[in-house]
Amino acid sequence: MKRIGILTGGGDCPGLNAVIRAVVRKAAQFNVEVVGIKNGWKGLIDCDTVNLTLNSVSGIITKGGTILGTSRTNPYKKADDLKKVFENYKDLELDALIAVGGEDTLGVANKLMKEKKGINIVGVPKTIDNDLNATDFTFGFDTAINVATEALDRLHTTAESHHRIMVVEVMGRHAGWIAIYSGLASGSDVILIPEVKIDLDEVCEILKKRHARGKSFSIVVVAEGAEFKAGQVVTKEEKLDAFGHVRLGGIGEILATEIEKRTKFETRVTVLGHIQRGGTPTAFDRVLGTRFGVKAMELVMDKKFGYMASLRGTEIVEVPIHDAVGTLKTVDIKFYELAKTFFG
Ligand code: F6P
Repeated sequence: MKRIGILTGGGDCPGLNAVIRAVVRKAAQFNVEVVGIKNGWKGLIDCDTVNLTLNSVSGIITKGGTILGTSRTNPYKKADDLKKVFENYKDLELDALIAVGGEDTLGVANKLMKEKKGINIVGVPKTIDNDLNATDFTFGFDTAINVATEALDRLHTTAESHHRIMVVEVMGRHAGWIAIYSGLASGSDVILIPEVKIDLDEVCEILKKRHARGKSFSIVVVAEGAEFKAGQVVTKEEKLDAFGHVRLGGIGEILATEIEKRTKFETRVTVLGHIQRGGTPTAFDRVLGTRFGVKAMELVMDKKFGYMASLRGTEIVEVPIHDAVGTLKTVDIKFYELAKTFFG
């Protein structure tokens, strides 16, 4: 191993820079050169790179986002792009590539490895959604739930002063991890997740009961991917991205309108959006990203291609990338039952 590449793809998330830094620091111990590929798979198509040195990764552990940039480019959309990926990997004289990403980026990594055309890939799992299989947690999630929890705490005080219901829409795509963790941590009164269809009658009943016992305000957390019993996910637009995903968003507004209509309690809505993804990573995410980065570099040195760093309990282990993609890791119904203990 003389020269390796690293790219970050998909939605950015806090902790990506900790991974990049750890890879470069560990690579230096083995005298391996690291080439940063800019903007995810797009950078490998365009051959847009930057050399990463100890100095270029100095001081980045505290920074959110990714110094390499990212994109949602899927090289499998155009045959020509795929060809360029293979050509540029060769032209850059890379011995291996570390792909840091979620389901989409690692899905591409998995496919590329299966083509057996000489690209050696090691994966690192990232996403604020925590919906990636074969790892207990992804980095970025802890920061997202802390941001969401702080926002929910803040909304509690204004909800209480004005005797209002606050509906708070959080991210998470088709998994309710952000909603359930931030909802539980903030003591919210109703948590709605994509894994369990929304029963509006039940929600309103919980809120009315709570108000009847003297509480004049409530907090409802709703995951962007949650669906009504007789409905579908609410989307921002009809367009799909390069990986066939819809852009979720809007459920909070609809829910707030319905709750106000049915309960007659004044209701407001807050959509947390990309605030959950931006900014400085928590200490947990910095350390998890660092441990993943070191493990990825070790996997490269051991030529364990097609594998990904993963957190199992408190240990960092290796798992086939294949095991992480394909199906989503969603919230267990038992966990949701536990959360329901605190509804109302
Ligand atoms: O996957 C991370 C995520 O933040 C999701 O929670 C959200 O649905 C999506 O990305 C938003 O994507 P974009 O940044 O393209 O709007």
